[in-house]
Amino acid sequence: MATNTKSPVVDIHTHVYPPSYISLLKSRSEIPYVRSFPPSPSLRLVILPAEDTESTSRGRPVGAEYYDISKKIEFMDTHSIDISVISLANPWLDWVPSSEAAQAAQSINDEVNTECGKYPGRLFAFATLPLSGGKEVIVKEIQRLKSLKYIRGVILGTTGLGKGLDDPELLPIFEALQENKLPIFLHPHYGLPGSVWGERANDYGHVLPLALGFPLETTIAVTRMILAGVFEKVTELEMILAHSGGTLPFLAGRIESCIEHDAHLKAEGKLGKERKTVWDVLKKNIYLDAVIYSEVGLKAAIQASGQYRVMFGTDHPFFPPLEGEGQKWASVETNYVAIKAALGGGSEEEKGALGRNAVRVLNLEV
Ligand code: URA
Ligand code: ZN
Repeated sequence: MATNTKSPVVDIHTHVYPPSYISLLKSRSEIPYVRSFPPSPSLRLVILPAEDTESTSRGRPVGAEYYDISKKIEFMDTHSIDISVISLANPWLDWVPSSEAAQAAQSINDEVNTECGKYPGRLFAFATLPLSGGKEVIVKEIQRLKSLKYIRGVILGTTGLGKGLDDPELLPIFEALQENKLPIFLHPHYGLPGSVWGERANDYGHVLPLALGFPLETTIAVTRMILAGVFEKVTELEMILAHSGGTLPFLAGRIESCIEHDAHLKAEGKLGKERKTVWDVLKKNIYLDAVIYSEVGLKAAIQASGQYRVMFGTDHPFFPPLEGEGQKWASVETNYVAIKAALGGGSEEEKGALGRNAVRVLNLEV
C-alpha cells in the first residue's frame, strides 16, 4: 500500500466479475460466456462480438483476478494503489432477459457493495443498471443505490434502452442520476460493426476492436448526446469517460466546427446562444480517466477538460503481461509514466490526477 495517505492513489477504472456473474456466464453458450475449448482444459472468457471467432483470439484466459476480490487488493498493493472504485466489466447486464433484470441488478449491486465492505476505505464501486428492465425498474434501482454504502456512481455502456444515449426516453434516468448525485462511468463494449475491420481481422488479435472500436464507440455515444441537447436538459449530469474520452478531446474542435457549419441545425434553430458547445460540456459535465497510455493523449485530455477533471485508472484485470507473473504490469506503469510526464513528478496537479480528483468528485472518504 502507498505510504502517503494524504495524497492517495485512486484507480477509478478497474473491473470485477463477481462470482455469481461468472456462474451465470458458465451456463451460457452465446456471448458473453465462459467455457473451455478442448483439448485445453482452461477456461476462457468471451465477451466481445469481434472475439467470438475460432482462433487464438477467442476470448481470453479467465483466472481468479477476474472474480476474486482478494486478488484486486493484491494487485492494488503491487501497484501502490490505495483505493479502487470497482465496476462490473462489460457487457454488464445488457443481455439479461427483461423479466430478470431488476433482480439481477439488485443482487450484483448488493454483492459488489458487500465485497467493498470487506476492505473498508480501500474499495468503492460503480453500480450496474438493469437496462433491459425498462425505465421504471432502472429508476427504482437508482433510488435504491442510496442505501448501499460504497456505491459512488453507475457504470453504463453506450446502448441505453437499445437506441443509444441520445434516446429521449433516457432523460428520466439521467435526471434520476443527477438528482442522486451519481456520476455515470461511461464504458464501451460493442465497438464498431465487424465489417470495418476487413477480411483479415482475425489475423490481428483484439487490436482493432480494443484500440479503435472502443474509443470510437465512446466518442460517437457522447457526441450524439451533445447533439441531442442532453446536457442542456440535464444540466448537472456528470459523466466520467473511459479511455480519456475515446477520441473526444482530440476531435472536439472538429465536432464543434461541423456543428457551427451545419445548415440543418441552423434551420432547426439549434445554434442559438443557449447551446452548450462541446468545450462547455467537456469542462462542465465530463471527467476523463487517464487510461490512454501516452503523454500525447493525456495532454489532450487535460487541455480539453482541465487537470482537475482527469483521474488515474488501470483497466485491471484486462491487459495483463503476456508472460510472467507477480511483477508490475506494463499497462499500469505506462499510465503512471504518462501522468508524470504530462503534469510533472511530485506536482499538485499530478497528485490530483493520481487520486485527489477522484476523492473530490466521487466523495471517497480517506
Ligand atoms: N477489454 C474489455 O472487454 N473491457 C475492458 O474494460 C478492457 C478490455
Ligand atoms: Zn474497462
